[in-house]
Amino acid sequence: MAEVVWGLATSHVPSIGAAMDRGKTETPDWRGLFDGYAPAREWLAQHRPDVAVVVYNDHANGIDLDVVPTFAIGTAEHYAVADEGFGRRPVPDVVGDADLSLHLVESLVDEGFDLTVFQELEVDHGLTVPLSVWTPDPGDAWPCPVVPLLVNVIQYPQPTAARCYALGQALGRAIASYPVDAKVAVLGTGGMSHQLAGARAGLINPEFDAMFLEAIEKDPEKLARIPRADYIRDAGSEGIEMIMWLIMRGAMNERVEKVHSHYFVPASNTAAAIALFDNRAPQDA
Ligand code: DHB
Ligand code: FE
Repeated sequence: MAEVVWGLATSHVPSIGAAMDRGKTETPDWRGLFDGYAPAREWLAQHRPDVAVVVYNDHANGIDLDVVPTFAIGTAEHYAVADEGFGRRPVPDVVGDADLSLHLVESLVDEGFDLTVFQELEVDHGLTVPLSVWTPDPGDAWPCPVVPLLVNVIQYPQPTAARCYALGQALGRAIASYPVDAKVAVLGTGGMSHQLAGARAGLINPEFDAMFLEAIEKDPEKLARIPRADYIRDAGSEGIEMIMWLIMRGAMNERVEKVHSHYFVPASNTAAAIALFDNRAPQDA
């Protein structure tokens, strides 16, 4: 049977990918962010999974804004990297795992999560930047196949945090029932606090972010109870991306062990963070 071995939460700011692609990670502006990734990257390099589920949102690059599914999954064998207007990032295309995708669709629909299915999908910075945060030098291929799990966080009404956490719990059960011996990683992407447009553009809320970083490890149910409007008020109109971390966390055990976390302001307009959790911690009896 498959098992979730680790969970990684990470921001997916496009300029993090651009800094890597252009060799700027050692500049004074960026060093503080990338130095903070190092301990997580070292641990991740020693704990390669067989497959990863990446929970992310498309930003009108792979999916037209006229049709935004609340929750969706990719079932393809292969996902091309989208050109977001500045040329395609010089990173590998993403290899899928159609068998796991189909198992997850079936299990999650049976549990009442009526996912939209993408048999074809181009993936944007929401998915590729987290893969770069994990694996700075992928060479010809990312470390393992990927199943994209998409969430609408860009158009009202976004799903509630509670619904995301419940989806994560169902995802954990679905992975556990996959009849293949596979080590599965789950990534929750986006955040932390940021707002890209409007009167509050540039909003950063370190107090909210610190509370969220602590609770995602120890008390995710508290975060699941926060209403949608409070996420937007406290973390910004794009900070609500953090609800995707709850899907990652829901797929993990009640007790997880934090391997490493790092918080850095600003990456572009965003409070950027990474938080890595080992899911093999002993559980209370
Ligand atoms: C930025 C952050 C995001 O999460 C995103 O999707 C796009 C841009 C930013 O801070 O520039
Ligand atoms: Fe985003």
